[in-house]
Amino acid sequence: METHRFNLFFNYAVFLVVTLYFLCLQGGLASRFNQFEPGILMPTEEVEPGIDDDQLGTRWAVLVAGSMGYGNYRHQADVCHAYQLLRKGGLKEENIIVFMYDDIAKNEMNPRPGVIINHPQGEDVYAGVPKDYTGEHVTAKNLYAVLLGNTSAVKGGSGKVVNSTANDRIFLYYSDHGGPGVLGMPNLPFLYAMDFIEVLKKKHAAGSYKEMIIYVEACESGSIFEGIMPKDLNIYVTTASNAQENSYGTYCPGMDPPPPPEFLTCLGDLYSVAWMEDSESHNLKKETLDQQYKTVKARTSNYNTYQTGSHVMEYGNESIKAERVYLYQGFDPASVNFPPNNGHISAPMDVVNQRDAELLFMWEMYKRSEDGSDKKTQTLQQITETIKHRRHLDSSIELIGTLLFGLKNSSSILQSVRGPGLPLVDDWNCLKSMVRVFETHCGSLTQYGMKHMRAFANICNAGISRVPMEEASAAVCKVLDAGQWHPSKQGYSA
Ligand SMILES: *[C@@H]1O[C@H](CO)[C@@H](O)[C@H](O)[C@H]1NC(C)=O
Ligand SMILES: *[C@@H]1O[C@H](CO)[C@@H](O)[C@H](O)[C@H]1NC(C)=O
Ligand SMILES: *[C@@H]1O[C@H](CO)[C@@H](O)[C@H](O)[C@H]1NC(C)=O
Ligand SMILES: *[C@@H]1O[C@H](CO)[C@@H](O)[C@H](O)[C@H]1NC(C)=O
Repeated sequence: METHRFNLFFNYAVFLVVTLYFLCLQGGLASRFNQFEPGILMPTEEVEPGIDDDQLGTRWAVLVAGSMGYGNYRHQADVCHAYQLLRKGGLKEENIIVFMYDDIAKNEMNPRPGVIINHPQGEDVYAGVPKDYTGEHVTAKNLYAVLLGNTSAVKGGSGKVVNSTANDRIFLYYSDHGGPGVLGMPNLPFLYAMDFIEVLKKKHAAGSYKEMIIYVEACESGSIFEGIMPKDLNIYVTTASNAQENSYGTYCPGMDPPPPPEFLTCLGDLYSVAWMEDSESHNLKKETLDQQYKTVKARTSNYNTYQTGSHVMEYGNESIKAERVYLYQGFDPASVNFPPNNGHISAPMDVVNQRDAELLFMWEMYKRSEDGSDKKTQTLQQITETIKHRRHLDSSIELIGTLLFGLKNSSSILQSVRGPGLPLVDDWNCLKSMVRVFETHCGSLTQYGMKHMRAFANICNAGISRVPMEEASAAVCKVLDAGQWHPSKQGYSA
């Protein structure tokens, strides 16, 4: 037994070291130039032709960090940064609604208590951020209620909602983990693409905005809109990645550019810092949404290398992108005479994919804890258990596929990707029900397991019904003790 355990442990440790070595190597390959971008400077000039500020409706913003935990520092840092940017642009606090778990600033692991930064040399972005929906109140349901301006449907929190009128513009920004068809939430269930699109349709039908833009950072974020986002809702969307790839964390320990040495977690995400640093370095009364999209797309692809980095996508009504960014993000008077060197990096940056950022964080924690300490042992144990659960998820889904489709056809069916313009799944309720069946027998999907949503979607698309799925899951996970990942602990993802 002891030998067996040791072997298991040894295998995981080797796997881990190899994985992390690979991550670091991958990070180090792309060379860094660290050059400064010559700022695009405009003297004071007449701005938006034909639009008088007084005729503009109210600008609203909804900012959502969908994760929790210090290892996900970057998502809440992104959202806090966005809040500061919009405030500098003149949006009012009463018109910005913030969803964040709020467990970072005061976290015992935070080397700068009470402070959050989103750039290695960045200033505090936490001060003043309103605690509209924090902790257990950060839920998909509350997000829907807030967007729809339905005060009676909101549970907990400040009760602030998007109480917009037909003349108003809305900016929605979301940062977190995702998977095909889903975005994460710190309290389950996940946000499912079709539910979200239905909310947007309802909001449009209510006639309570003029136009809306949506920016989404998450793995497979394109899948939230691909094939299901209508073009006639007066909404323009960009996403960090297409429907089938990761999005990336950046300013990570051991990478270039690194966070200050005392940080053992990534400070930001590639697409997110790209749009925010772009907004901060341009006159937003002159820059169009299309210009921002193109700049962000170039930077997020790590300058068209796509070695690490992702494909920024656009959905919805693309005519809207001819508009100036300030209509949504406001205008900071200081940006009119912006200095030529804004200090923002415009060179390839080291990144880590969202799903491995968790391991990178735990590994940093392990490396930095004292040899022989309880903390070091516990961290290693948490790492091995996390990797074990990941492997369990991967192999269970593979086995379920084999039971359902046969050895020969299983992987091609589970992994098949539908062409552009087609939705992930035809029956979204089927997807949710497959997820629940799986979790009942095999344990929580967790942030990592979101990546398997495509397999569940393909099981639905192949016309498999609940009963055979139930039987296959029960058979594959018969002897499992899900432990900390039993769905009774955190709830179901669907
Ligand atoms: C607001 O939410 C409540 C509770 O979910 C629901 O009964 C009501 O119909 C909603 N109102 C509107 C206008 O959608
Ligand atoms: C929404 O705005 C209207 C005025 O436009 C106001 O009368 C109403 O109280 C507001 N509702 C909420 C929930 O803030
Ligand atoms: C797209 O937006 C433009 C500009 O607001 C508008 O004129 C056009 O009708 C919209 N297209 C659709 C299909 O709604
Ligand atoms: C695999 O798929 C092919 C074509 O889709 C089908 O003809 C064949 O019967 C399948 N094989 C098995 C073992 O199910």
